[in-house]
Amino acid sequence: MIIVHSLQALRQALLGVPAYHPGVAFVPTMGALHHGHISLVAAARRLSPTVVTSIFVNPTQFNDPADFARYPKSLEQDIDMLEAAGTHLLFLPEVATLYPQGTQHLPPYPLGRLEQLLEGVHRPGHFQGVCQVVHRLLQAVQPGHLLLGAKDYQQCMVVRQLLLQTALPIQLQIVPTMREADGLAMSSRNRRLGADGRQKAASIYRTLQWINSQWPHAQPAILEAEARRQLLAAGFESVDYCSICHAHTLEPLQQADADEPAVALVAATLEGVRLIDNLPLGPKMA
Ligand code: PAF
Repeated sequence: MIIVHSLQALRQALLGVPAYHPGVAFVPTMGALHHGHISLVAAARRLSPTVVTSIFVNPTQFNDPADFARYPKSLEQDIDMLEAAGTHLLFLPEVATLYPQGTQHLPPYPLGRLEQLLEGVHRPGHFQGVCQVVHRLLQAVQPGHLLLGAKDYQQCMVVRQLLLQTALPIQLQIVPTMREADGLAMSSRNRRLGADGRQKAASIYRTLQWINSQWPHAQPAILEAEARRQLLAAGFESVDYCSICHAHTLEPLQQADADEPAVALVAATLEGVRLIDNLPLGPKMA
């Protein structure tokens, strides 16, 4: 595996590969890697002969500076995991490499309603930061395929919109969420949980499965209220949202309707760690 830090070294390593060629698949990460990330690399390898991964903890997507400071880091272990998974090229930029003019006063991306729903409400500015970094990384790597994990459902929709708006000729591939044996979605944040919290955290997935078992025989508001109650009873300190939404727009569904593509999404905090997860509902989306 080749490791590069600068844009020049990155372009040098990809010399001879046409821009946005399907032979290059790209997996952007913020490090603290787990098997979910490795499943993205494995999917990238099935698509393209050259797999590029980046590790960059992007400061502009953290609306809470304490969350940025606490973000877990394990670079040496990450490098070993990526090497074993078959990444060919690892891009490790510095902040000044991606943001040569600094990280303040960057022009906004028009994200419309997506920014006013769910994560957009609870993490103001977060998706602007995601677009800022993903756009820069894509312009640097110029891949034919971009791989993202389905756990970040709304992020996938935001990046799809970014690709449409920028007209970058890149195929977005969304890879299913990897789960621990008890159903907890794999996440770098899980390692900040203590043993007790780690056990309780699995109740997010159980609650999502419960919603799915009731759908579409109960109305969204009733299911959302009961799911919230279940999460608080399981030990979560707070629930930012537990919402049943249209799977393509993320607008909250007012009525249960088997013909509408639906997804249940949760963000809840346990031991000060904010976890998110989602589950497409009903047999059509299963
Ligand atoms: O999902 C993540 O890890 C990040 O949001 C991403 C896509 C690497 C951008 O920093």
